[in-house]
Amino acid sequence: MHTLAVARAVRGIEPLVAAEIRRAGLGVVRGVRHREVWFETADPGPELLGLRTADDVLLVAAVVEGIGRGREALGRLSRAARELDAESLTKLAHQITGQATDRPHELRDGGTRDALPYGVLEGGPPYGGRGGGVEVSASFVGRRNYSRFDIEDAVGAELARPLGLPYHSRRDGRVPPEGSTAWRVTVEDGQAVIALRVPARPLHRRPYKMESIPGTLHPPVAAAMAGLARLDRAGTVLDPCCGAGTTLIEARALAPHARLIGFDHDPRAVHVAAANATRAAADSIAWGVADAGRIPLPDGSVDRVLVNPPWDRQVAPSGRLRRDPGRLWREIHRVLAVGGTVVALVPEAWRPPGFGVDRVIHLTLSGRHPVVAVLRRSASRG
Ligand SMILES: C[S@@+](CC[C@H](N)C(=O)[O-])C[C@H]1O[C@@H](n2cnc3c(N)ncnc32)[C@H](O)[C@@H]1O
Repeated sequence: MHTLAVARAVRGIEPLVAAEIRRAGLGVVRGVRHREVWFETADPGPELLGLRTADDVLLVAAVVEGIGRGREALGRLSRAARELDAESLTKLAHQITGQATDRPHELRDGGTRDALPYGVLEGGPPYGGRGGGVEVSASFVGRRNYSRFDIEDAVGAELARPLGLPYHSRRDGRVPPEGSTAWRVTVEDGQAVIALRVPARPLHRRPYKMESIPGTLHPPVAAAMAGLARLDRAGTVLDPCCGAGTTLIEARALAPHARLIGFDHDPRAVHVAAANATRAAADSIAWGVADAGRIPLPDGSVDRVLVNPPWDRQVAPSGRLRRDPGRLWREIHRVLAVGGTVVALVPEAWRPPGFGVDRVIHLTLSGRHPVVAVLRRSASRG
């Protein structure tokens, strides 16, 4: 029997999530929608939890049609929740997360690895340990005569009953206890989808990121940037403004043999990056304090640059970049080999002198609309 799953994604990178699902052999992609990639999997296993570009992965329990604006929709949703097989789906999710923690991770290519990348489940109980009850998070598009809490309560009580677990409402700002089994209901037009989150915590919450800095990058976006940089062919990869180290830590899985170098002008950021990398077992990344306005590397010595420069919003440029932010691009041009690639997350689409633009991807991230730009270094800065 096939299982329908949904990978949730940052707006803009859905096609990259679909590509990762295909590349990892996780299933057949059935549809790419706003912030979602739907796929069908014959044998859902712990590989699902290794999806790096996705924010989360859920198993679809029911697709309910005919959900109108009136409150009668709540009765319809309650009925759908009562009729679906919450127990089997919960067992399946339990099995997937249990496998991921209990035994070496078998890969689709026949190999094994000892643990999921970045300790996906570290710090969170395996599914079997989730005795905390049932929680539901709902969202809908358009005006309706009911609230998200009405949907959550209508569905949550019915899902919890057959599982013999308490339902924890979010109404009045209540926060469900850690370890609850997390369901999600999305309503768009006349259709509702009821789905169960597979991992104990959302996939984007990397356990390695125990320490952070202002303006730190969302790990699935960093993973998408690393994918766009085609790191399999890279010798040296640089992040000259590495902050908490997210780009290079996410890059390590795609470039196990490359030399990875992260600099930041702020010594605390460098300390945080190194600590995060250690927790992620992302070994042998070289971290150092340096000004991106004078990168301490020889000309042409870098093959790829991954960078999320200071934007003057959450993080202001410091050092040589404070007076002259353009220095960053002159320095990147200098240290990058001709034909080398930069993947940058920047506030808007633009082309610095000396680079060609291979691709621009528009994102919606924390209410802003930055772009991921894939740039190629030309022979001259002209
Ligand atoms: C948007 S944050 C980078 C976030 C990072 N990608 C992460 O995931 O945490 C920008 C970083 O640029 C650093 N920065 C500011 N001016 C700099 C300079 N002149 N040289 C190097 N780094 C600088 C800041 O300290 C900050 O860590």
